[in-house]
Amino acid sequence: MKRNSKYSAPAILGIDVGGSAVKGAPVDVRRGKYLAERLRLPLRDQARPADIARAVARIAKHFKWRGAIGCGFPAAIRGGVALTAANIHKSWIGKNVAAMLKKSTRCPAFVLNDADAAGIAEMTFGAGRGRKGVVLLVTVGTGLGTALFSDGMLLPNTELGHIEIRGKEAEHRASDAVRQRNNLSWKKWAALLNEYLTTMERLFWPGLIVLGGGVSRKHEKFFPYLAVRARLVPAKFRNKAGIIGAALAARRFGSSTTARA
Ligand code: BGC
Repeated sequence: MKRNSKYSAPAILGIDVGGSAVKGAPVDVRRGKYLAERLRLPLRDQARPADIARAVARIAKHFKWRGAIGCGFPAAIRGGVALTAANIHKSWIGKNVAAMLKKSTRCPAFVLNDADAAGIAEMTFGAGRGRKGVVLLVTVGTGLGTALFSDGMLLPNTELGHIEIRGKEAEHRASDAVRQRNNLSWKKWAALLNEYLTTMERLFWPGLIVLGGGVSRKHEKFFPYLAVRARLVPAKFRNKAGIIGAALAARRFGSSTTARA
């Protein structure tokens, strides 16, 4: 792998695109650690492709980046192309995100689903490290993102936050955005999340469930109300997982715009 001359460790710029901000940091991909403080650029609501391409270019410029970029993106991604747009502007559908980022940053870019990126970080260096069998990572934030592994192998783009429970999409019932919007107590919200997790269990029978996303920082507040059969743990990397995992994925799967996601 080509080294970024600024760092002695093999480094990839990890980017995490979320509903409200784009965040990025150079990552030491051998150790899964940031090499510099991350930069966070807020986005307007329903950000459009040009806004995000611009934000990623600003992050690359901030770090004077010249090497590969790995980007986690909140949509199903195949061959660098966004196939869905649940919490982002609809004009993303069909856009080649990897090609756009390559153009705006002039760096090779690899793009994958944001929850898959977080899952890769947790399975490589975090809460799922070395874990065999079925592992489900759920990122709880604006939406519900999922990453599903069997013996460490990822099945990409599972999009299980969109499964219907009682006639409503799960992420519209149990995401952290729903908790905040409806001012739900931890207990009330945990009951909704638990129903989601037990539905996942009935379908996939994971031995381990890793809960990520910003709210996992407050896991003591709601873990006591969750009752699942699987071992349930908070993500180790919390909100760093997306950036670190995107960088690891770019290293593992290549960084060309046509690379598989
Ligand atoms: C999107 C997923 C994403 C998740 C978390 C969902 O709305 O469909 O692709 O992983 O939100 O950001």
